[in-house]
Amino acid sequence: MPARLVVLVSGTGSTLQALLDAAADPSYGAIVAAVGADREGIDGLPRAERAGVPTFVCRLGDHVDRAAWDLALAAECARFRPDLVVSAGFMKLAGPAFLHRFGGRFVNSHPALLPSFPGVHGPRDALAHGAKVSGCTLFLVDDGVDTGPIVAQRAVDVLDDDDERTLHDRIKVAERSMLVDVVGRMMREGYRVNGRRVTIP
Ligand code: GRF
Repeated sequence: MPARLVVLVSGTGSTLQALLDAAADPSYGAIVAAVGADREGIDGLPRAERAGVPTFVCRLGDHVDRAAWDLALAAECARFRPDLVVSAGFMKLAGPAFLHRFGGRFVNSHPALLPSFPGVHGPRDALAHGAKVSGCTLFLVDDGVDTGPIVAQRAVDVLDDDDERTLHDRIKVAERSMLVDVVGRMMREGYRVNGRRVTIP
């Protein structure tokens, strides 16, 4: 049976689309069992619908507080029995309830070479700092902001005439390739976590 992924999105969903395309091949070894979002009206949701993948929306504003939202998000994800939850441009921080349930099998992709430039403006911060090389990082989500154990990274050159959009667009090309490759290997071959070191046999 293929491994089951739940992918969380908040926007365009080009990263999600790369996973949907890869999962269409049975040899990939994983399917996208569901796509979750924290908001309506984003392109990521119709991408899932076009692929026949169930979707759910868990909006912070629909819950009395963040803790209730966190519990609801965890319950929605659990309905689809994920082997791995993948944050692909999901712009909310999962809380203690979610991490209690999915910690260790919840990865996030970040458009910078962590621990440099964490947070929501990775490409902008790398440019502002004058970095010559940036890239993307896949990591296991912990209770910090972009601080979890690193699973994989890809380097991307920063060009002299880059602006935030051109750099982020180039990073996203590497990010989609990294995510498809590494998530597939994790699901087919398994992975080990030893402190901050993550290895895929
Ligand atoms: C990705 O670069 C991701 O790392 C960042 O937001 C971007 C999402 O892009 N958090 P998309 O919505 O998958 O096109």
